[in-house]
Amino acid sequence: MRVVSGIQPTGKPHLGNYLGAIRNYVALQDDAHAVGGECLIFIADLHALSMPHDPAELRSSTLELVATLVACGLDPDKAILFNQAQVPQHPELQWLLNGTARMGWLNRMTQWKDKAGKNREGQSVALFTYPVLQAADVLLYQATHVPVGEDQKQHLELARDIAQKFNNDFGTEDAPIFTLPDPIIPAEAARIMSLRDGSAKMSKSDPSDMSRINLSDDADTMAQKVKKAKTDPEPLPSEEAGLAERPEAKNLVGIYAALAGQSQAEVLAQYGGQGFGAFKPALADLLVAKLGPIRDRFVELKDDLETLDAILARGAAKARERGTPTLEAVYRALGLVRH
Ligand code: TRP
Repeated sequence: MRVVSGIQPTGKPHLGNYLGAIRNYVALQDDAHAVGGECLIFIADLHALSMPHDPAELRSSTLELVATLVACGLDPDKAILFNQAQVPQHPELQWLLNGTARMGWLNRMTQWKDKAGKNREGQSVALFTYPVLQAADVLLYQATHVPVGEDQKQHLELARDIAQKFNNDFGTEDAPIFTLPDPIIPAEAARIMSLRDGSAKMSKSDPSDMSRINLSDDADTMAQKVKKAKTDPEPLPSEEAGLAERPEAKNLVGIYAALAGQSQAEVLAQYGGQGFGAFKPALADLLVAKLGPIRDRFVELKDDLETLDAILARGAAKARERGTPTLEAVYRALGLVRH
């Protein structure tokens, strides 16, 4: 079992990132560790170049994200934690895969189409070839399991297509060069929505800070945001069906359930019939209880540059070691002369 995943260093991490992705990494790190497998989690800082970016911000959000990942429970002794920029094998393998990836495949990527919109000519080449770098990210390590959100499923399928074609073109039947990675999409698909609008995802790009719970918020701020969260005047229903037309209520119940490790039905069995005047304080208390310790660890770590640099350097050294055999096999398979 080799788990590999990347996370982009864009802005402050929030509750949606934690419940949707980071918490899942921590569980997989422990699963992999238990069976003698490995888990590699990296900050996709090279991917950040696909959109206009500010260098000082990239640097600080990369470090902030390492602090967050560790605060949330990723353990540098159990998982390999690093940033792409310190492992040049990623862009190196990307170039080698550029000979295999097809223009038509990339043209079909919905993320490319969405981000480029009507202005394809004006986009960076990096935005277009982004999925090839993502394929290199996982194929370099012979990943078996790749935890991602639903929106990244298509990129994972592309990685499989690239691996398959490369194996066909340059491997032999009994010695395939790449392992085909399987996406793991969290079953609960924890879709945590904005606190101001139950139909929009909780997002770091929402201009209103009241729309999200940041992992760096203190207890009072969290409680305040829950108190001000948009709701309707009805009491909570006793059954899940009663949430169907009530996106804001559904979101708050979903957050409670995800944090408590309960089903939404269990939460409603307890709180059905009660108004938000009772439910919101309970949710705020739960949030503070679960996220408080994470926040404390985050605050302790975030300015400790020495520790953060050391974590990344150690992870990168291990990652380079893990990636070398595959990269060398790829060079050889392609007929490129080395040594
Ligand atoms: N594209 C992913 C995202 O935006 C981040 C990412 C980069 C990634 N490389 C990866 C995820 C490799 C999984 C595997 O969420």
